[in-house]
Amino acid sequence: MKVSASLLSSDLLNLEKEIEVLAEAGVSTLHIDIMDGHFVPNIAFGIDIVRQITKVSTLPINIHLMIDNPERFIDLLSSPKIGYIIVHSEGNRDIKSLFGRIKANDVNIGIALNPQTQVMDIREYLEMVDMALVMGVHPGFGGQTLIPSTLRKIKQLKDIRKDLVVGIDGGINDQTVSIVNPENPDILVVGSYLFNRDKDHELQDMREKLRILQGA
Ligand code: DX5
Ligand code: ZN
Repeated sequence: MKVSASLLSSDLLNLEKEIEVLAEAGVSTLHIDIMDGHFVPNIAFGIDIVRQITKVSTLPINIHLMIDNPERFIDLLSSPKIGYIIVHSEGNRDIKSLFGRIKANDVNIGIALNPQTQVMDIREYLEMVDMALVMGVHPGFGGQTLIPSTLRKIKQLKDIRKDLVVGIDGGINDQTVSIVNPENPDILVVGSYLFNRDKDHELQDMREKLRILQGA
């Protein structure tokens, strides 16, 4: 089980240092939540900060686009450091052409499912994607409470496509991991739990949190 660190709750004024600690502690990938204040009721990150992060990060970066008109930004997010671009199926959009653009940039495709979206709603796209990201919370903010009924989608997705990489995003911490991990997700996207820590022992603390999340 891989842990992908959502930078939303990181110490944004010391982002480079944060990324170094995450890499040293053993996080697998970075997860950057781009929000536009329209598709979700919050604003976070943008193209220029992603570009700067790609320059310093030794870890692969996954981009989670929570924006209207995602097609405008996909070409701007092309970098060998970007592993997946994750788009939502919700909203009125031409999903297949979005996928085409992501692939044209040689990036893997992720599709995210909001809590109210069912696996059957995106069934037709599952053969076209490299990853599905189950939202454990309503997207927009870090630090929310996991909605347990979302977890069953992990198995539903795997039942349809055994080789699909399935992630779960939102509300994962030392309390909820005991109900999340038995569902066997491939990726845990974790934000506030990782960054809510003792700054004096941050590396040690981060390692301990990863150990708890991975059940090691
Ligand atoms: C929510 C974001 C998540 C979020 C996770 O809209 O997509 O990636 O930052 O944060 P926590 O782990 O705090 O729920
Ligand atoms: Zn996210």
